[in-house]
Amino acid sequence: MKSRVRARANIALIKYWGKTNPALNIPAVGSISVTLESLWSETEVEFDARFRSDTLLLDGDSRPEQLERVSRCLDILRERAGVKTHARVVSDNNFPTGAGLASSASGFAALSAAAAHALELDLSPRELSIVARRGSGSAARSVFGGYVEMHAGSAADGRDSYAEPLLAAEAWPLEVVIAITERGEKAVGSRAGMESSASTSPYYPAWIATSESDLRAGREAVLKHDFDALAEVVEHSCLKMHAVAMANRPPLIYWNPATLDCMQAVKALRAGGLPVFFTIDAGPQLKAICEPDARPAVVGALRELPGVADVIVSGLGPGVEIR
Ligand code: DP6
Repeated sequence: MKSRVRARANIALIKYWGKTNPALNIPAVGSISVTLESLWSETEVEFDARFRSDTLLLDGDSRPEQLERVSRCLDILRERAGVKTHARVVSDNNFPTGAGLASSASGFAALSAAAAHALELDLSPRELSIVARRGSGSAARSVFGGYVEMHAGSAADGRDSYAEPLLAAEAWPLEVVIAITERGEKAVGSRAGMESSASTSPYYPAWIATSESDLRAGREAVLKHDFDALAEVVEHSCLKMHAVAMANRPPLIYWNPATLDCMQAVKALRAGGLPVFFTIDAGPQLKAICEPDARPAVVGALRELPGVADVIVSGLGPGVEIR
């Protein structure tokens, strides 16, 4: 009763921010993402009747504050399998954990797939996406590779709130250049940040009201491989999400000065004719998305900014893989 799975991080092009049901982790809006080839979690789950409780080792540390979420995800699968056996979960990321690089997305996708496999549950990718969503909304997308769309759904039990593939990675092989502007874990996670937005940000209703049209524009741009249209709607979705969070009470600002420098650098490159745009998640790192030919210039421009500590480059990658 043991399995090991690799799942990759994803970057949202059209953002998820807010929930209709925090207990079932049902998102208030749909989202569109790309799965990254080079950033992954590798997670081993072992069920054994001798274990007296679930345990978690994340990058070599026991993380008690994460264990409850992990156990809740395992409970869903244990219930389906009709067992009560505890599990030992050992997970490693090949990139910095909790710094706005979607470690919860790859982590919960890997956990769900490994636990389902270890319990010999024959789940469809869609069912797996629903289980992963319970761990983390963005994890529902990391089940799949390439361009992925997550549906908010409307069912009260969340059965139509899942991700599915939108376009294969090979069909439009864009690349992602991540500028690390700060190391270490962020102070306010996305879960707390979006909860605060829903209850305190005056811009939250506008965020919800405009999400469908962003999704439509994003989906169309991906399916048509329309780089300029995608650049426009992705930057809009990102800045709108951050504007919502900045208007939280207390305010939530995920950026540092280097994040803004990176943003200006990307804008200048695009104004000069280079196919590149940016997005930023719930952290200070900037993700530049570009056509492969533009990558050296993008890496060079971001690397030379004084506040950029490191640059990570990735192509688009596959969904969950059993090792
Ligand atoms: C800004 O998926 O981490 O990265 O469902 O509470 O675990 P929970 O939130 P999470 O939120 C991701 C927020 C985001 C945007 C996105 O990935 O769509």
